[in-house]
Amino acid sequence: MSPLLPGGNHDRTRRRDASTATSVASVTSKSSRVRVAKGAAIVGIGALVTGCAENAVQDTFQPAGTNAQEIDDLARPVFYIAGVVGVIVLGVVAYVVFRYRDRGQPIPEQTHGKPALEIALTILPALILIGVAIPTVGTIMALSETDDTECVVNVTGQQWWWEFDYPVQDGCLPGGITEPIVTSGQMVIPADMNVLIRGTSRDVIHSFWIPRLNGKRDMVPGRVHNLRMQANEPGIYAGQCAEFCGLSHANMRMEVAALTPDGFAEWVENQVADYTPPEEGTLAAEGEASFIANCARCHQVNGLEDDTGNLIVSRPDLQVYPGAAPNLTNLMTRNTFAGATWSMLRPGCRADVWEAPSDEFTDRYLEGVTPDCFAEIDMREWLRNAPAKKPMYADPEKLEPTDGLYRGMPYLALSEDQIDQLLAYLLELK
Ligand code: CUA
Repeated sequence: MSPLLPGGNHDRTRRRDASTATSVASVTSKSSRVRVAKGAAIVGIGALVTGCAENAVQDTFQPAGTNAQEIDDLARPVFYIAGVVGVIVLGVVAYVVFRYRDRGQPIPEQTHGKPALEIALTILPALILIGVAIPTVGTIMALSETDDTECVVNVTGQQWWWEFDYPVQDGCLPGGITEPIVTSGQMVIPADMNVLIRGTSRDVIHSFWIPRLNGKRDMVPGRVHNLRMQANEPGIYAGQCAEFCGLSHANMRMEVAALTPDGFAEWVENQVADYTPPEEGTLAAEGEASFIANCARCHQVNGLEDDTGNLIVSRPDLQVYPGAAPNLTNLMTRNTFAGATWSMLRPGCRADVWEAPSDEFTDRYLEGVTPDCFAEIDMREWLRNAPAKKPMYADPEKLEPTDGLYRGMPYLALSEDQIDQLLAYLLELK
């Protein structure tokens, strides 16, 4: 046993000579250096390889809208200039470190005060910074422009999903929007139109970010922040909450689906269409009753009526801390759920939508979730025990600070029969 290891013989430890200690120490430091080098190589190669993904859905370097293009036009030259400066500085540092390292030579003659050099090294960085600052200020002003928007969507963040509501307005469509629409997870917009996002939050600060369409904008409780969103072509663009907002921050995603003008009109018409109850005697009809008993307290389905013919109005404000739960009217026209974290489409069907060429995208998106494409496993697990699938403060023991109000969907103790009924019902919400 090495005399240096803990638990070694104390007498021998005391008797060890200096040269043994030095050689053991140098072996240890060499092997630890090899370990550090191996670790650094793995991390470096990993970063390089993952940074090379060509079809990354959240790639700021593949702008698909005007604002993202402006950001790209600024970021690339700045990145290149900073890269050249970085390479020069690191190169000079590396050269000096190796060329002049201490080999026991005498300390060289000390000098100071080289005015020409000092003035040059002050002016050069100042010129570079001015060169970067002018286009940066211009870009910031261009990005904050919202006067040219033609369609309004209110975006509200909360733990841990995004709500999109379309107020009654003259914009978005030639005839405007005549009834409010509330949806979540996926924001549907007309392609090639400047959309005004009016963003806020119901609990903590979140940040709305669709990398291929625009930069980040914080969504702050009690304030409304504006952001312009525009997509050049029909397609679907992924995003992610970009401000740490609690337990399921990483599960707070969103997507923007940009449709052709006709496709958007069709989407709006379907969203405001009258509710069609499931046919009597079907599993879906049992599901509707089960939904009313278990889900309708929080989740609104517009047009849903109770036994006596009264409209059911959900009251999530009595159950959840932020005061809202996703409106599930026409759920199956979206294709993700629970903060856009899980797909409701099977992988092949999802690829048909995500990889559709832009002239075919609108039709594929408007198909929504069909029974053949429904990826029910995730939804089944969600209904069985939501907090086990996505970390949320839905544990009664952790609700003291919120006066017993949940953050996120609680465990509902549904039976497998009830889950079958609910799935059949949800599949008809379209
Ligand atoms: Cu919301 Cu992070």
